[in-house]
Amino acid sequence: MGPPGAGKGTQAKRLVEKFGMVHLSSGDIFRAEKASGSDLGRKLAEYMSAGELVPDGIVVEMMAKAITTADSQAGLMLDGFPRTVPQAEALDAQLAEAGKPLNGVVVITCDDQAIVARITGRRSCPRCGKVYHVEFLKPQVEGRCDDCDGVELAQRADDKEEVVRERLSAYYAQTEPVITYYRDRGEVKVVEVDGNGAPDQVTAKLVQAVAGLG
Ligand code: AP5
Repeated sequence: MGPPGAGKGTQAKRLVEKFGMVHLSSGDIFRAEKASGSDLGRKLAEYMSAGELVPDGIVVEMMAKAITTADSQAGLMLDGFPRTVPQAEALDAQLAEAGKPLNGVVVITCDDQAIVARITGRRSCPRCGKVYHVEFLKPQVEGRCDDCDGVELAQRADDKEEVVRERLSAYYAQTEPVITYYRDRGEVKVVEVDGNGAPDQVTAKLVQAVAGLG
């Protein structure tokens, strides 16, 4: 968990490489649906481009399907879900029914000013999803993916400064209470990691945090 731009996607990709889990990002799943041109994708895009959360009913159904169909033998790393208390309750119910535990919750913190700079400078590869930054995580050749034969990097539609502010408000109002929800339950370890350092420093702290979850 963590605010938009805290580094969830960047770090989740590194962590699954190290630990071998499957990375399930709700944002990536929704963007893939949008790219398919379906009616559902168009509906999702309306919420996302306004910086609002997608309604819980749609999210829970899509994520339940993704979780059920993922090859989860080595575990799942959920990124961006759950993002509201009703979503967390739905996940608890799904895991209880499947007899699977939630090992822990990792929260990446980040200052608001850093978030705006990170998000407005973000670029990603439309083919492999690798995430770059025009200043902080540059590709080898400007504007081109390192891993995909020079595919041109793209900017996300919701990465404009005014939309970022909306996304931050949604995070504080609707997603921070999820951290309290898990803390209050007391059965799940909640670990906070400072995401303000350089990417490699943050990765080192996260590797330790995730290893500690068992
Ligand atoms: P989603 O795709 O989940 O976006 P987000 O949570 O807003 O997070 P981001 O993807 O923007 O940031 P990140 O933390 O992954 O940062 P990143 O690693 O890319 O959701 C998008 C939308 O979908 C939502 O607004 C909502 O509408 C909808 N949605 C999704 N899930 C939902 C749910 N469960 N319920 C309802 N609606 C939902 O890094 C950002 C940039 O910073 C990159 O350029 C990166 O290179 C750079 N960077 C990373 N780490 C560092 C560092 N340490 N130092 C410097 N730069 C860094």
